[in-house]
Amino acid sequence: KNVELGEVTWQSPSNIALVKYWGKKENQIPANPSISFTLDNCRSTTKLRFSKKIKGGDNFEFDFYFEGKPKEDFKPKIKKFFQRIEKYCPYLKNYSFEIHSENSFPHSSGIASSASGMSAIALCIMDLEKQLFPEISEEYFSKKASFLARLGSGSASRSIDGRLVVWGENDSIEGSSDEYAVEFPYEVHETFKTYKDTILLVDKGEKQVSSTVGHGLMHGHPFAENRFAQAHENLESMIPILKSGDTSAFIRLVESEALTLHTMMMSSNPYFILMKPNTLEIINKIWAFREKNDIPVCFTLDAGANVHVLYPESQESKVLEFINNELVVYCQNGQYICDQVGGGAKKL
Ligand code: PMV
Repeated sequence: KNVELGEVTWQSPSNIALVKYWGKKENQIPANPSISFTLDNCRSTTKLRFSKKIKGGDNFEFDFYFEGKPKEDFKPKIKKFFQRIEKYCPYLKNYSFEIHSENSFPHSSGIASSASGMSAIALCIMDLEKQLFPEISEEYFSKKASFLARLGSGSASRSIDGRLVVWGENDSIEGSSDEYAVEFPYEVHETFKTYKDTILLVDKGEKQVSSTVGHGLMHGHPFAENRFAQAHENLESMIPILKSGDTSAFIRLVESEALTLHTMMMSSNPYFILMKPNTLEIINKIWAFREKNDIPVCFTLDAGANVHVLYPESQESKVLEFINNELVVYCQNGQYICDQVGGGAKKL
């Protein structure tokens, strides 16, 4: 179909990995599979305006606005993304674009916006593709959206679908692929469908290590092969855990994954410590609280100092009371974000 001009808006969430992706091969292929909870409140909203150029062209034409203002320093990242996906979206150079993006969470919160931001742009582009080729199926649409998002930022591939999402090929997960993420295909206990994630903002500064550099550190890392094998095993262990609702086993696996991610960074060359003293204070408080009250609350970490506190919805009031009484003092300006497992991206 001929499409002259139009405008589409998609809202896409962030996600938090339970089994972590750390290390990649050429072309954004993950060195190991990962699984994440899709979040709900931490989202990017992206509007794509497009108009057909009078005569095609051999350059990408686009402007990028963040929270209403032109943002030049983000343009090279988008350009690189367009270059990577051009092969799969040959219509891109026929249009000039205006991209408007905003996040529901504070931008200097140390919360990575690449997963929500890149998946939202990928969905907008797929929306244009659907207008050009109305016959494409819903399944093709979401798989290709995840595929394109992956080329923007690996973890962004896991932000299209809802609840529990797997990215990376694994023999035990039917339909899993290195090229795109899929919804976890097996039974999930009610407990995990409504899990809570309260994100404690320990350090809102710029990331000390970009994830690109971080993934690169796994090349030639002395423990890399064992780590990749362990991620496969941990993902497989998740299948019965998610089915049975066994929160104790879930906690052991998720906390170990978080600490292993940081272990990899501490033992790479060069080495980094991305936790802050307050990260450790929080972890110790969580352990003491869990021991004393027998409440299944645990932590996980990204490649930074902030702490994600994960717990069942049924424990919400007790855990929030604990966070307010004992953990807020370790957060920068007392800030934290309340989130939960969500249903995935949507069109506005
Ligand atoms: O998507 P990237 O390249 O920003 O990598 C993200 C890696 C971690 O957040 C540390 C782990 C993960 O699986 O999301």
